[in-house]
Amino acid sequence: MRKKIVAGNWKMNMSLQDGIELANEVNESLLNDAPSCEVVICTPFIHLASVAGIIDTNVLKLGAENCADKAKGAYTGEVSAEMVKSTGAEYVILGHSERRAYYAETPEILKEKVNLALANGLKVIFCIGEVLEERESGKQNEVVEAQLSGSLFDLTAEQFANVVLAYEPVWAIGTGKTATAEQAEEMHAFIRKTIAEKFGKDVAEATTILYGGSCKPSNAKELFAKPDVDGGLIGGASLKAEDFKGIVDAWKA
Ligand code: 13P
Repeated sequence: MRKKIVAGNWKMNMSLQDGIELANEVNESLLNDAPSCEVVICTPFIHLASVAGIIDTNVLKLGAENCADKAKGAYTGEVSAEMVKSTGAEYVILGHSERRAYYAETPEILKEKVNLALANGLKVIFCIGEVLEERESGKQNEVVEAQLSGSLFDLTAEQFANVVLAYEPVWAIGTGKTATAEQAEEMHAFIRKTIAEKFGKDVAEATTILYGGSCKPSNAKELFAKPDVDGGLIGGASLKAEDFKGIVDAWKA
């Protein structure tokens, strides 16, 4: 059975103090009521070491939201995969549409990041997804396939086992406009088929594919009920412990 995951992406929110408080709240709520899935919070770099020190990794894992495309050296302001790993983080989000759109991250750059993250023992949450215009012109499958092949298809099946995919239609991110469960399932099934063609059926069946984009406690259960939706990557609703826990609880019977 493949892993079910609910991961939070805090994006550029929370002072260090507020972030520690939120991590504490999430951790406590999961200790009081054990989750039925893996739960991850991905925080800004500056929170990582502090949050690593307070969470119980039996119930809550930690991840970063990005890492550099270079291993080390004179790259002022960058944070390497090795540095992320040294904080105690287990995951790193790569390829988020905000990084692609606002920081010009290309499939080639992302390929370097993925390679460095995996080489440093991090698991990658790799984001893919089309913009509204691409969906309206029926190009979503083509776009997602190119994002997958452009950054991940030189990996071995063994390396790919440490990659979690997150389908995040850009038109659904932060807009309150969630993809319908049917739209999510249709794309997730396509992604799994594409992975099967490249890495084989067993690898595809074992790959966790998350949905992201205006996922909330009120719609998580319906989305997660779909056979190819293995959990969520949560933005806005991960900033409130209660809402985030509500989404985690969507995996409970
Ligand atoms: P929202 O949940 O705020 O729509 O963000 C989704 C997202 O981008 C997670 O990475």
